[in-house]
Amino acid sequence: MDDPISRRSSSMRSSEIREILKLTQKPEIISFAGGLPNPKAFPHAELRKISDKLLSEKYETVLQYGITEGYNELREAILDRMKRYKVDVTLDNIIITTAAQQGLAALGLVILNPGDKIAVSYTTFLGMLTVFSLMESVAVPLSMDENGLNIDELENRLEENKKKGTPIKIVYVVPNFQNPTGVTLSEQRRRRLVELAREYNFFIIEDDPYGELRYSGDPIDMIISFDKPKGNEGNTIYVGTFSKTIGPGLRVGWAVGPENMIQKMVIAKQALDLCTDVFSQALIAEYLKRGLMDDHNERIRNLYRHKRDVMLENMDKYFPTEATWIRPDGGLYLWVTLPQGIDTKELLRKAVEKKVAFIPGHVFATDIKIQNTFRLNFSCESDENIVEGIKRLGEVIAAELKKPK
Ligand SMILES: Cc1ncc(COP(=O)(O)O)c(C=O)c1O
Repeated sequence: MDDPISRRSSSMRSSEIREILKLTQKPEIISFAGGLPNPKAFPHAELRKISDKLLSEKYETVLQYGITEGYNELREAILDRMKRYKVDVTLDNIIITTAAQQGLAALGLVILNPGDKIAVSYTTFLGMLTVFSLMESVAVPLSMDENGLNIDELENRLEENKKKGTPIKIVYVVPNFQNPTGVTLSEQRRRRLVELAREYNFFIIEDDPYGELRYSGDPIDMIISFDKPKGNEGNTIYVGTFSKTIGPGLRVGWAVGPENMIQKMVIAKQALDLCTDVFSQALIAEYLKRGLMDDHNERIRNLYRHKRDVMLENMDKYFPTEATWIRPDGGLYLWVTLPQGIDTKELLRKAVEKKVAFIPGHVFATDIKIQNTFRLNFSCESDENIVEGIKRLGEVIAAELKKPK
């Protein structure tokens, strides 16, 4: 045997973020590094009551294997919610997945051949970067501004790659409060993206874990609502999850898209895990059926809005004026840019000495060149720790800026 492991797995890189998180998980460290929802946002009391009922009245179903497409009551309840967002499709257009990450992996398996091109923003969700690398596909990085992905640049890349005979097959977007930058894609750009998908024949993966976490500004319609999928028609696959609203431990998400793509995802999912945990699906289905979701989402929006505002207020107060940042309307993250020449990987080492942590921006980049940015998570620490952590971080940045270059 020349090489005992596949070429595919040898191209995988171990997640640097996991290494950083190990460093920052000591209890004495104020960590803005993770991206976790706040446990205070978990609706545990209601879920406990529903669990009791399910295990006494429906144990024969909820402890059994389920169909790969997903628990029908949940599929129906999600489709009902999607109607509010102007997406009106049938059961054949939806699959339940083991949270969003499995939806992304299944789409990678179904769409990508080695060498295929996939367009993404320059900094993007790490889990998707792992999927590309496993599929041996090639990322086409695009710049972003405060309105999201640069669509003119996308159009140029589409044209260029079409001419070269290497068409872009997927455009991957996190439309709302993107991880890691917090940026939202404007309505005008969403509409143009759908037009371009039709013209150049690519799939849009609309990965939207943060859509319900909007704290300010007006909501923007989903990309898929402009695409109006019907039967096999449509270029957009919407990927949703309950990870950021109910809890990531349950591992339940969904994908909505053209029927033939959903059927292919069902086959991919049979290879991955046969079916998503039926008990978790039934829990969430009942939670939705009882009408608990809207009030719950309102509660967690209030919690996170407050945390975002505490962090922003203190950044205004303690960060040197040379630092700039995006004020996101939702999500869980703030993105900070420092002057060129500051290496945030090095800055993290100094921050950890002062017992405060963040994630350097290069970790999320398709290209390692980004050195002067970092991501802060505002959802998890107490208000007191946010104030103290931002103060310490401001001091670390100020000291770094004073150093002669
Ligand atoms: C943009 C994005 N997509 C997908 C995921 C994965 O979510 P899930 O827990 O539903 O797999 C995350 C998690 O942080 C994310 O930020």
